[in-house]
Amino acid sequence: MSRPRFIAIGTAVAALMLALVPASATAEPPPPTVVAAPDVDINGVLDHVSQFQSIAAANGGNRASGTPGYDRSADYVADTLTAAGFSVTRQACTTCNGQDENIIADWPGGDTANTVMVGAHLDGVRYGPGINDNASGSAALLEVALTLAAADPVMSKHVRFAWWADEESGLRGSNYYVRTTGVSDIEVYLNLDMVGSPNAGYFIDNLAGSYSTPFRDYLDGQGLAPEEMTECCSDDGPFRNAGVPTSFLSTGASKVKTSAQAAKWGGTAGRSYDPCYHSSCDSYPGNINTTALDHMTDATAHAVWEFAVQ
Ligand code: PHE
Ligand code: ZN
Ligand code: ZN
Repeated sequence: MSRPRFIAIGTAVAALMLALVPASATAEPPPPTVVAAPDVDINGVLDHVSQFQSIAAANGGNRASGTPGYDRSADYVADTLTAAGFSVTRQACTTCNGQDENIIADWPGGDTANTVMVGAHLDGVRYGPGINDNASGSAALLEVALTLAAADPVMSKHVRFAWWADEESGLRGSNYYVRTTGVSDIEVYLNLDMVGSPNAGYFIDNLAGSYSTPFRDYLDGQGLAPEEMTECCSDDGPFRNAGVPTSFLSTGASKVKTSAQAAKWGGTAGRSYDPCYHSSCDSYPGNINTTALDHMTDATAHAVWEFAVQ
């Protein structure tokens, strides 16, 4: 008595499954989930900048390559990343001042044959603590890395962060990496140098390039209408020369803001983007524009997520 009913129910279930299976099997695969980058905490960025200021103050007033101020900066970045779960490589650059180390940090996951690499130089000049140039880029990158670790999203591409030694005497750390490690696995290299300029502009090197799209979109979305960078040079150079597509964010160095730029970005026309460029007054808090640093940090996270997160 109950047996036929059981079969009938079983048949009904089987029919339902048959009805469902072909439908889902023939449907288009869903588009990859687009996960937006979280807002990066500017207070985290400023904490790192403040640490670099303290490191300079405790080590003769600067963080130049070949000095203890550089080495303590490298320790700070490497230890913070290791604690957050990164695979950290301290690469001795034998052609750098003091044979200082590049800090390379890999976030596990994603396609390693198509690595998205993002870098900033960690050294400063000997004249001062090197805060806008380039504790700003170093700190922004560090907080983006920590934000990625905390979010732990599914990665489509591999992400590698780099803090370069000895940019200031001729891009030596990044040149060393490109020459010795090679770039065959690097799809794109993104660079940050001076991203908290007190009289900030919003510049993207290779503004029209397809790999600049996330930077451009983010800053356009903030109403900041970025312009082509006209100052040179930084650690994107060795990558570009090796055939890697690059993009590069900066709020400007020693060039002077035009009145058109002051009208759209605020700040002071006729004055350098950073009047303390390569000077002893490149210090924290005086020489950091928090608003600019916040925008450039979020633009960087936006690009990392756009390129590498599923
Ligand atoms: N890279 C140069 C330096 O570190 C200056 C520079 C910064 C050039 C930003 C262009 C953009 O001194
Ligand atoms: Zn610099
Ligand atoms: Zn410099």
